Amino acid sequence: MKQSRKKIAGVIVVLLLSVCFYVGGKQFFKHQKSIDEVKHIKIGVSIYDEYDTYIAELMQEVSSLAKKKEMEEKIAITVDVQSAGGSQITQNDQIESFVDKNYNVVCVGLVDRTDASGVIDKAKSADIPIIFFNRELVNEDLERWDKIYYVGADAVQSGVMQGEIILEACKKNFESIDKNKDGILQYVIIEGEPGHQDALVRTEYSVKTVVNAGYTLQKLGNEIANWNKAQAITKMTSLLEKYGEEIEVVISNNDEMALGALEAIKNSNIESYPLVVGVDGVQGGLESVKKKEMIGTVYNDYRGQAKAIVEMAFALSLQQDFPEELNLIENKSIYLPYQKITYDNVQEYIRMLN
Ligand code: GAL
Repeated sequence: MKQSRKKIAGVIVVLLLSVCFYVGGKQFFKHQKSIDEVKHIKIGVSIYDEYDTYIAELMQEVSSLAKKKEMEEKIAITVDVQSAGGSQITQNDQIESFVDKNYNVVCVGLVDRTDASGVIDKAKSADIPIIFFNRELVNEDLERWDKIYYVGADAVQSGVMQGEIILEACKKNFESIDKNKDGILQYVIIEGEPGHQDALVRTEYSVKTVVNAGYTLQKLGNEIANWNKAQAITKMTSLLEKYGEEIEVVISNNDEMALGALEAIKNSNIESYPLVVGVDGVQGGLESVKKKEMIGTVYNDYRGQAKAIVEMAFALSLQQDFPEELNLIENKSIYLPYQKITYDNVQEYIRMLN
Protein backbone atom coordinates (compact mmCIF):
# COMPACT_ATOMS: atom_id res chain seq x y z
CA MET A 1 0.00 0.00 0.00
CA LYS A 2 2.77 2.40 1.13
CA GLN A 3 4.80 1.48 -1.96
CA SER A 4 1.97 2.27 -4.38
CA ARG A 5 1.27 5.62 -2.63
CA LYS A 6 4.93 6.52 -3.09
CA LYS A 7 4.69 5.57 -6.76
CA ILE A 8 1.60 7.75 -7.29
CA ALA A 9 3.28 10.68 -5.53
CA GLY A 10 6.32 10.20 -7.78
CA VAL A 11 4.19 10.25 -10.93
CA ILE A 12 2.43 13.42 -9.75
CA VAL A 13 5.77 15.15 -9.10
CA VAL A 14 7.03 14.18 -12.55
CA LEU A 15 3.79 15.46 -14.16
CA LEU A 16 3.97 18.76 -12.27
CA LEU A 17 7.60 19.22 -13.25
CA SER A 18 6.78 18.54 -16.92
CA VAL A 19 3.98 21.14 -16.84
CA CYS A 20 6.34 23.68 -15.23
CA PHE A 21 9.02 23.05 -17.83
CA TYR A 22 6.48 23.28 -20.66
CA VAL A 23 4.98 26.58 -19.48
CA GLY A 24 8.35 28.02 -18.49
CA GLY A 25 9.86 26.90 -21.76
CA LYS A 26 7.09 28.57 -23.75
CA GLN A 27 7.69 31.81 -21.86
CA PHE A 28 11.39 31.43 -22.30
CA PHE A 29 11.13 30.88 -26.03
CA LYS A 30 8.73 33.84 -26.51
CA HIS A 31 11.76 35.84 -27.29
CA GLN A 32 11.26 39.60 -27.33
CA LYS A 33 13.42 41.07 -30.02
CA SER A 34 15.52 44.08 -29.12
CA ILE A 35 15.55 47.19 -31.29
CA ASP A 36 19.19 46.41 -32.24
CA GLU A 37 18.13 43.01 -33.54
CA VAL A 38 15.32 44.28 -35.75
CA LYS A 39 16.85 47.55 -37.03
CA HIS A 40 14.15 48.23 -39.60
CA ILE A 41 10.40 47.65 -39.21
CA LYS A 42 8.47 47.20 -42.43
CA ILE A 43 4.69 47.47 -42.36
CA GLY A 44 2.64 46.66 -45.44
CA VAL A 45 -0.80 48.27 -45.59
CA SER A 46 -3.48 47.40 -48.12
CA ILE A 47 -6.57 49.63 -48.25
CA TYR A 48 -9.74 48.73 -50.16
CA ASP A 49 -9.84 51.94 -52.20
CA GLU A 50 -7.74 55.08 -52.49
CA TYR A 51 -10.72 57.38 -53.18
CA ASP A 52 -12.27 57.02 -49.73
CA THR A 53 -11.81 60.31 -47.84
CA TYR A 54 -12.09 58.84 -44.36
CA ILE A 55 -9.58 56.09 -45.12
CA ALA A 56 -7.24 58.67 -46.66
CA GLU A 57 -7.32 60.71 -43.42
CA LEU A 58 -6.73 57.53 -41.39
CA MET A 59 -3.75 56.59 -43.56
CA GLN A 60 -2.20 60.04 -43.28
CA GLU A 61 -2.37 59.71 -39.53
CA VAL A 62 -0.83 56.21 -39.61
CA SER A 63 2.10 57.51 -41.65
CA SER A 64 2.68 60.53 -39.46
CA LEU A 65 2.46 58.50 -36.23
CA ALA A 66 4.91 55.96 -37.66
CA LYS A 67 7.34 58.82 -38.38
CA LYS A 68 6.97 60.04 -34.82
CA LYS A 69 7.54 56.55 -33.46
CA GLU A 70 10.62 56.19 -35.65
CA MET A 71 12.14 59.31 -34.06
CA GLU A 72 11.16 58.34 -30.51
CA GLU A 73 12.37 54.75 -30.71
CA LYS A 74 15.32 55.43 -33.02
CA ILE A 75 14.43 52.64 -35.36
CA ALA A 76 13.63 52.88 -39.07
CA ILE A 77 9.94 52.27 -39.83
CA THR A 78 8.66 51.93 -43.38
CA VAL A 79 4.92 52.06 -44.00
CA ASP A 80 4.12 50.86 -47.51
CA VAL A 81 0.49 51.76 -48.31
CA GLN A 82 -1.10 50.15 -51.38
CA SER A 83 -4.63 50.52 -52.67
CA ALA A 84 -6.47 47.43 -53.87
CA GLY A 85 -8.71 49.60 -56.09
CA GLY A 86 -11.81 47.71 -55.00
CA SER A 87 -10.54 44.24 -56.02
CA GLN A 88 -10.10 41.41 -53.51
CA ILE A 89 -7.86 39.60 -55.99
CA THR A 90 -5.54 42.63 -56.21
CA GLN A 91 -5.52 42.85 -52.44
CA ASN A 92 -4.54 39.18 -52.09
CA ASP A 93 -1.68 39.79 -54.56
CA GLN A 94 -0.54 42.78 -52.54
CA ILE A 95 -0.36 40.65 -49.40
CA GLU A 96 1.68 38.09 -51.33
CA SER A 97 4.15 40.76 -52.36
CA PHE A 98 4.39 42.04 -48.74
CA VAL A 99 5.15 38.46 -47.73
CA ASP A 100 7.79 38.13 -50.46
CA LYS A 101 9.42 41.33 -49.23
CA ASN A 102 9.61 39.87 -45.75
CA TYR A 103 7.54 42.60 -44.07
CA ASN A 104 7.10 42.34 -40.31
CA VAL A 105 3.34 42.99 -40.19
CA VAL A 106 0.52 43.46 -42.68
CA CYS A 107 -2.45 45.78 -42.07
CA VAL A 108 -5.55 45.23 -44.15
CA GLY A 109 -8.78 47.13 -44.82
CA LEU A 110 -10.48 44.24 -46.56
CA VAL A 111 -12.15 44.84 -49.91
CA ASP A 112 -14.71 42.15 -49.17
CA ARG A 113 -15.06 41.79 -45.44
CA THR A 114 -16.62 38.35 -45.82
CA ASP A 115 -13.69 37.04 -47.83
CA ALA A 116 -10.62 37.30 -45.59
CA SER A 117 -9.34 33.78 -46.30
CA GLY A 118 -6.94 34.68 -49.14
CA VAL A 119 -5.26 37.34 -47.01
CA ILE A 120 -5.12 35.12 -43.92
CA ASP A 121 -3.70 32.09 -45.75
CA LYS A 122 -0.93 34.06 -47.38
CA ALA A 123 0.21 35.90 -44.23
CA LYS A 124 -0.19 32.84 -42.01
CA SER A 125 1.95 30.66 -44.27
CA ALA A 126 4.82 33.11 -43.67
CA ASP A 127 3.95 33.64 -39.99
CA ILE A 128 3.35 37.38 -40.51
CA PRO A 129 0.76 38.86 -38.12
CA ILE A 130 -2.26 40.65 -39.65
CA ILE A 131 -4.01 43.73 -38.29
CA PHE A 132 -7.36 44.14 -40.03
CA PHE A 133 -8.94 47.56 -39.67
CA ASN A 134 -12.16 49.49 -40.39
CA ARG A 135 -13.87 46.75 -42.41
CA GLU A 136 -14.78 44.20 -39.80
CA LEU A 137 -14.09 40.61 -40.71
CA VAL A 138 -16.50 37.89 -39.62
CA ASN A 139 -15.85 36.29 -36.27
CA GLU A 140 -14.88 32.87 -37.63
CA ASP A 141 -12.09 34.54 -39.61
CA LEU A 142 -10.90 36.54 -36.60
CA GLU A 143 -10.66 33.26 -34.67
CA ARG A 144 -8.77 31.42 -37.39
CA TRP A 145 -5.30 32.25 -36.10
CA ASP A 146 -3.88 33.78 -32.93
CA LYS A 147 -1.96 36.41 -34.91
CA ILE A 148 -5.05 38.05 -36.40
CA TYR A 149 -6.17 41.37 -34.88
CA TYR A 150 -8.87 43.96 -35.56
CA VAL A 151 -8.96 47.74 -35.05
CA GLY A 152 -12.27 49.51 -35.61
CA ALA A 153 -15.27 51.07 -33.92
CA ASP A 154 -18.70 49.93 -32.75
CA ALA A 155 -21.15 50.61 -35.59
CA VAL A 156 -24.20 50.48 -33.27
CA GLN A 157 -22.82 53.36 -31.25
CA SER A 158 -22.45 55.55 -34.36
CA GLY A 159 -26.05 54.90 -35.42
CA VAL A 160 -27.37 55.63 -31.94
CA MET A 161 -25.39 58.88 -31.80
CA GLN A 162 -26.73 60.00 -35.18
CA GLY A 163 -30.22 59.37 -33.84
CA GLU A 164 -29.41 61.35 -30.70
CA ILE A 165 -28.21 64.31 -32.76
CA ILE A 166 -31.53 64.33 -34.61
CA LEU A 167 -33.39 63.99 -31.31
CA GLU A 168 -31.58 66.93 -29.73
CA ALA A 169 -32.50 69.05 -32.75
CA CYS A 170 -36.13 67.92 -32.55
CA LYS A 171 -36.31 68.77 -28.86
CA LYS A 172 -35.07 72.28 -29.59
CA ASN A 173 -36.97 72.98 -32.75
CA PHE A 174 -39.46 70.35 -33.93
CA GLU A 175 -41.80 73.01 -35.33
CA SER A 176 -39.38 74.18 -37.96
CA ILE A 177 -38.00 70.69 -38.77
CA ASP A 178 -41.52 69.34 -39.36
CA LYS A 179 -41.99 71.47 -42.46
CA ASN A 180 -45.48 70.24 -43.42
CA LYS A 181 -46.69 70.28 -39.79
CA ASP A 182 -48.06 66.74 -39.85
CA GLY A 183 -46.24 65.74 -36.65
CA ILE A 184 -44.24 63.10 -38.59
CA LEU A 185 -40.61 63.28 -39.70
CA GLN A 186 -40.29 62.46 -43.38
CA TYR A 187 -36.76 61.26 -44.05
CA VAL A 188 -34.44 59.78 -46.66
CA ILE A 189 -31.35 57.64 -46.07
CA ILE A 190 -28.15 57.73 -48.09
CA GLU A 191 -26.37 54.45 -47.53
CA GLY A 192 -22.77 53.25 -47.75
CA GLU A 193 -21.68 50.01 -49.43
CA PRO A 194 -24.16 47.17 -49.20
CA GLY A 195 -22.95 44.50 -46.77
CA HIS A 196 -20.61 46.87 -44.88
CA GLN A 197 -21.18 46.63 -41.11
CA ASP A 198 -21.27 50.42 -40.75
CA ALA A 199 -23.87 50.94 -43.47
CA LEU A 200 -26.32 48.30 -42.27
CA VAL A 201 -26.05 49.09 -38.61
CA ARG A 202 -25.98 52.90 -38.82
CA THR A 203 -29.11 52.87 -40.96
CA GLU A 204 -30.93 50.66 -38.48
CA TYR A 205 -29.87 52.33 -35.23
CA SER A 206 -30.15 55.97 -36.28
CA VAL A 207 -33.82 55.50 -37.09
CA LYS A 208 -34.50 53.19 -34.12
CA THR A 209 -33.10 55.76 -31.69
CA VAL A 210 -35.45 58.50 -32.88
CA VAL A 211 -38.46 56.16 -32.97
CA ASN A 212 -37.71 54.78 -29.49
CA ALA A 213 -37.78 58.33 -28.15
CA GLY A 214 -41.40 58.62 -29.25
CA TYR A 215 -41.21 60.36 -32.62
CA THR A 216 -42.98 59.07 -35.71
CA LEU A 217 -40.84 58.69 -38.79
CA GLN A 218 -41.79 58.06 -42.39
CA LYS A 219 -39.19 56.83 -44.84
CA LEU A 220 -39.62 58.43 -48.24
CA GLY A 221 -36.71 56.65 -49.86
CA ASN A 222 -33.22 55.23 -49.51
CA GLU A 223 -30.33 55.19 -51.95
CA ILE A 224 -26.92 53.53 -51.96
CA ALA A 225 -24.00 55.87 -52.67
CA ASN A 226 -21.05 53.68 -51.54
CA TRP A 227 -19.53 56.29 -49.16
CA ASN A 228 -18.93 58.53 -52.15
CA LYS A 229 -19.80 62.21 -52.56
CA ALA A 230 -20.29 62.21 -56.34
CA GLN A 231 -22.64 59.23 -56.17
CA ALA A 232 -24.56 60.91 -53.34
CA ILE A 233 -25.08 64.04 -55.45
CA THR A 234 -26.70 61.93 -58.19
CA LYS A 235 -28.79 59.87 -55.79
CA MET A 236 -29.95 62.84 -53.73
CA THR A 237 -30.82 64.75 -56.89
CA SER A 238 -33.20 61.99 -57.89
CA LEU A 239 -34.70 61.85 -54.38
CA LEU A 240 -35.24 65.61 -54.54
CA GLU A 241 -36.91 65.29 -57.92
CA LYS A 242 -39.35 62.80 -56.42
CA TYR A 243 -39.95 64.28 -52.97
CA GLY A 244 -38.60 67.87 -53.04
CA GLU A 245 -39.84 69.94 -50.14
CA GLU A 246 -41.35 66.84 -48.46
CA ILE A 247 -37.90 65.74 -47.23
CA GLU A 248 -37.39 66.92 -43.66
CA VAL A 249 -34.37 64.87 -42.58
CA VAL A 250 -31.45 63.36 -44.51
CA ILE A 251 -29.62 60.60 -42.65
CA SER A 252 -26.33 59.77 -44.31
CA ASN A 253 -24.13 56.82 -43.34
CA ASN A 254 -21.05 59.08 -43.64
CA ASP A 255 -19.97 62.72 -44.09
CA GLU A 256 -18.86 62.51 -47.71
CA MET A 257 -22.32 61.38 -48.79
CA ALA A 258 -23.92 63.98 -46.49
CA LEU A 259 -21.84 66.64 -48.25
CA GLY A 260 -22.96 65.25 -51.61
CA ALA A 261 -26.58 65.38 -50.44
CA LEU A 262 -26.10 69.00 -49.35
CA GLU A 263 -24.67 69.91 -52.70
CA ALA A 264 -27.69 68.40 -54.43
CA ILE A 265 -29.97 70.32 -52.05
CA LYS A 266 -28.17 73.58 -52.86
CA ASN A 267 -28.53 72.86 -56.59
CA SER A 268 -32.26 72.16 -56.25
CA ASN A 269 -34.99 74.73 -55.97
CA ILE A 270 -36.28 73.73 -52.55
CA GLU A 271 -36.63 76.63 -50.17
CA SER A 272 -36.49 75.11 -46.76
CA TYR A 273 -33.51 72.80 -46.23
CA PRO A 274 -33.90 69.47 -44.42
CA LEU A 275 -31.69 68.46 -41.47
CA VAL A 276 -28.59 66.62 -42.68
CA VAL A 277 -26.54 64.38 -40.40
CA GLY A 278 -23.37 62.41 -41.18
CA VAL A 279 -20.68 60.27 -39.55
CA ASP A 280 -16.84 60.46 -39.50
CA GLY A 281 -15.84 64.03 -38.65
CA VAL A 282 -13.65 64.37 -41.74
CA GLN A 283 -12.43 67.90 -42.49
CA GLY A 284 -15.29 68.66 -44.89
CA GLY A 285 -17.84 67.38 -42.38
CA LEU A 286 -16.47 69.56 -39.59
CA GLU A 287 -16.50 72.65 -41.82
CA SER A 288 -20.08 71.94 -42.77
CA VAL A 289 -21.18 71.57 -39.13
CA LYS A 290 -19.40 74.82 -38.36
CA LYS A 291 -21.35 76.55 -41.14
CA LYS A 292 -24.57 75.06 -39.71
CA GLU A 293 -25.25 73.25 -42.98
CA MET A 294 -24.98 69.81 -41.45
CA ILE A 295 -26.71 69.54 -38.10
CA GLY A 296 -24.01 67.26 -36.80
CA THR A 297 -21.70 64.34 -37.34
CA VAL A 298 -20.26 61.49 -35.31
CA TYR A 299 -16.51 61.42 -34.90
CA ASN A 300 -15.08 58.12 -36.11
CA ASP A 301 -11.88 58.36 -34.09
CA TYR A 302 -9.30 57.95 -36.86
CA ARG A 303 -6.58 59.29 -34.60
CA GLY A 304 -7.22 56.61 -31.99
CA GLN A 305 -7.47 53.91 -34.64
CA ALA A 306 -4.24 55.02 -36.31
CA LYS A 307 -2.48 55.04 -32.95
CA ALA A 308 -3.70 51.53 -32.18
CA ILE A 309 -2.56 50.28 -35.60
CA VAL A 310 0.93 51.79 -35.26
CA GLU A 311 1.44 50.69 -31.64
CA MET A 312 0.27 47.17 -32.40
CA ALA A 313 2.36 46.89 -35.55
CA PHE A 314 5.41 48.10 -33.64
CA ALA A 315 4.91 45.67 -30.76
CA LEU A 316 4.26 42.75 -33.12
CA SER A 317 7.42 43.49 -35.10
CA LEU A 318 9.51 43.31 -31.94
CA GLN A 319 7.46 40.43 -30.56
CA GLN A 320 6.60 42.53 -27.54
CA ASP A 321 3.35 42.67 -25.58
CA PHE A 322 0.88 45.38 -26.60
CA PRO A 323 0.91 48.54 -24.47
CA GLU A 324 -1.66 48.11 -21.71
CA GLU A 325 -3.50 51.36 -22.45
CA LEU A 326 -4.72 49.90 -25.75
CA ASN A 327 -7.07 47.72 -23.74
CA LEU A 328 -7.63 45.03 -26.36
CA ILE A 329 -10.59 42.68 -26.04
CA GLU A 330 -9.18 39.16 -25.58
CA ASN A 331 -5.86 40.51 -26.84
CA LYS A 332 -7.38 40.60 -30.36
CA SER A 333 -9.68 43.53 -31.07
CA ILE A 334 -10.06 47.15 -30.20
CA TYR A 335 -13.11 49.36 -30.78
CA LEU A 336 -12.46 53.07 -30.42
CA PRO A 337 -15.49 55.01 -29.09
CA TYR A 338 -17.41 57.37 -31.38
CA GLN A 339 -18.16 60.96 -30.28
CA LYS A 340 -21.02 63.32 -31.13
CA ILE A 341 -20.14 66.56 -32.89
CA THR A 342 -22.62 69.42 -33.25
CA TYR A 343 -22.30 73.18 -33.69
CA ASP A 344 -21.76 73.48 -29.90
CA ASN A 345 -18.49 71.52 -29.80
CA VAL A 346 -17.29 71.52 -33.42
CA GLN A 347 -14.57 74.11 -32.78
CA GLU A 348 -12.88 71.74 -30.30
CA TYR A 349 -12.61 69.08 -33.01
CA ILE A 350 -11.43 71.55 -35.63
CA ARG A 351 -8.69 72.62 -33.23
CA MET A 352 -7.81 69.08 -32.19
CA LEU A 353 -7.69 67.66 -35.72
CA ASN A 354 -5.62 70.38 -37.32
C1 GAL B 1 -16.62 53.77 -42.46
C2 GAL B 1 -16.59 55.26 -42.73
C3 GAL B 1 -16.88 55.52 -44.18
C4 GAL B 1 -15.97 54.71 -45.07
C5 GAL B 1 -15.99 53.25 -44.68
C6 GAL B 1 -15.01 52.45 -45.49
O1 GAL B 1 -16.28 53.50 -41.13
O2 GAL B 1 -17.55 55.88 -41.93
O3 GAL B 1 -16.73 56.88 -44.47
O4 GAL B 1 -14.68 55.21 -44.97
O5 GAL B 1 -15.71 53.10 -43.30
O6 GAL B 1 -14.91 51.15 -45.07
